[in-house]
Amino acid sequence: MARKPWTAIVAGVAGLLLLSACGGGGGTGGGGALTLGFAQVGAESGWRTANTKSIQESAKAAGIELKFSDAQQKQENQIAAIRSYIQQKVKVIAFSPVVESGWDTVLKEAKTANIPVILTDRAVDSPDKSLYKTFLGSDFVAEGKKAGEWLAKEFGSAAGDVSIVELQGTTGSAPANDRKKGFADVIASNPKFKVVASQTGEFTRAKGKEVMEAFLKSQPKIDVLYAHNDDMALGAIEAIEAAGKVPGKDIKIVSVDGVRDALQALADGKINHVVECNPLLGPQLMDLVKKVAAGEQVPPRIETTETEFDQAAAKAALPQRQY
Ligand code: AHR
Repeated sequence: MARKPWTAIVAGVAGLLLLSACGGGGGTGGGGALTLGFAQVGAESGWRTANTKSIQESAKAAGIELKFSDAQQKQENQIAAIRSYIQQKVKVIAFSPVVESGWDTVLKEAKTANIPVILTDRAVDSPDKSLYKTFLGSDFVAEGKKAGEWLAKEFGSAAGDVSIVELQGTTGSAPANDRKKGFADVIASNPKFKVVASQTGEFTRAKGKEVMEAFLKSQPKIDVLYAHNDDMALGAIEAIEAAGKVPGKDIKIVSVDGVRDALQALADGKINHVVECNPLLGPQLMDLVKKVAAGEQVPPRIETTETEFDQAAAKAALPQRQY
């Protein structure tokens, strides 16, 4: 009986020692390395897998000690991870916010602890820009516009209405909000373009397939599928084929990302156009981490360079595509 409190004390001291070994010493980790706490969204897509690999490999190459967590597409998990990085006194925190809203409290906690934060890939909608040092990623509105411009060109001379179904990304996320807006802004200029159904497919292949099956049952006429990412488009292709239709012909498909499987589907004629979103953010992120850790000024927003693929461009890109 009398041994219990001692056991608890020993466990507590061991826990404290472990915590200080992980993140003590002002965020320099065990061997004096610069520590970065990175809270990833999840592993929902091929894009995300490539993004995670780029971050892990670049941290290693830059000699940065990476503490990595996967939030499984849940905001509460990301907030818990960021709080744990604050507790561990990492030098810099970076994260790709699963949704745009609801970050002010935890970002204020990081600011109070004097830990700079870098947003990568996805933005937050906080009006207080002092809560983070910079944003590194894509212009998602521009990506949606590119998809809309392709559609306007492809169906510009078509007679009659063009019925479009839309597979949205994760509800409340920056890419879902912005890609929807960019696309809608472009097609609004021609009333023959009608979005007849729009629903989230959560950026996953399985959900893209499931929602497309429902669209095919509920919609008498579908001319175009606009998918906010490639994985949902690839899932939808399975649903279209199972329904006895030909993807890329009976239903034209435009999607965003540019992962290898989608470029292959484009080369095979099952997808018609792909707008690129670059996941290889690791090297630029590590440069920024070093700069903000050294107290240097960095630009408030850094956008990645991206392209678009038609069938010929996909065929040309495939042999060197890294992801
Ligand atoms: O935030 C980038 C988006 O997130 C990618 O387009 C999508 O594939 C991923 O899940």
